[in-house]
Amino acid sequence: MSTMEPRRRRSVVVGGAGGLGAAVARGLAEAGGLVAVLDRDLEGARAVAGEIDGVAGEIDVSDEASVGRAIDEAATRLGGLDALVTTAGVLGERLDLEQTSLARWQEVIAVNLTGTFLVCRAALGHLRSGDRPSVVTVASGVALRPLLPTLTAYAASKGGVVAFSKTLAQQVGPDGIRVNVVCPGLVETPMAPSRAELGEADTGRLEQYALGRAATAEEIAEVICLVSGPAASYMTGSTVVVDGGRSYW
Ligand SMILES: NC(=O)c1ccc[n+]([C@@H]2O[C@H](COP(=O)([O-])OP(=O)(O)OC[C@H]3O[C@@H](n4cnc5c(N)ncnc54)[C@H](O)[C@@H]3O)[C@@H](O)[C@H]2O)c1
Repeated sequence: MSTMEPRRRRSVVVGGAGGLGAAVARGLAEAGGLVAVLDRDLEGARAVAGEIDGVAGEIDVSDEASVGRAIDEAATRLGGLDALVTTAGVLGERLDLEQTSLARWQEVIAVNLTGTFLVCRAALGHLRSGDRPSVVTVASGVALRPLLPTLTAYAASKGGVVAFSKTLAQQVGPDGIRVNVVCPGLVETPMAPSRAELGEADTGRLEQYALGRAATAEEIAEVICLVSGPAASYMTGSTVVVDGGRSYW
């Protein structure tokens, strides 16, 4: 019998205390990986990390210094970094455009778009020394097709995440780093708009999903884990839509 154990894949999940992030952290750990769970909600991150024998850390993705510290510390504690998954995000207040203050707009962009930029930038140096390194960012189906008319800032931030991720894939592909963006449809997490809210907008009705229902966090996490791992070795720059068939017509 060989004494050589295969090295565990070392991943950071940013937003890992959240509905989707926690499911991703669990999925990566179930596949044998070593996972750092980072979130603004440190208690939540600790709870998830405790379940999966991972490490936890605090991060505010909208704060450059916090991101640098948290990613460096996570990479040190994992002994390196092979994969990054960024799921931290906020929906923001539902407002018509004329009621949207600059501060509200900037809050959503700061977390969803600038946060994705800051986290990816901080992780790249570590990923360059990683094993078959990859990045998965999380955008949304609303980057492709509107859901609620009051989500302009959110939709713009997620459209930005799609464009950012594809261009980053182009930049770091020659270094062997893959970057893909996953666009979930409606997922049953604390963030999802309520059924009552969706009922207000024609575009939000569940009948518009070919499968006629929202996803569980685990159904989206399965795809993220696959795309993040070495099995997806020829996949980069892809916009992976996992939306129960809402955006296909
Ligand atoms: N739930 C849905 O229907 C849905 C649909 C499409 C896309 N998404 C996207 O999926 C991702 C995960 O969302 P979720 O549904 O799990 O929501 P969630 O609210 O359960 O989780 C979001 C997590 O992000 C963390 N977070 C928020 N701001 C942060 C900051 N500044 N710094 C660090 N962490 C921060 C929160 O603490 C929370 O743990 C988000 O990017 C969201 O936009 C969700």
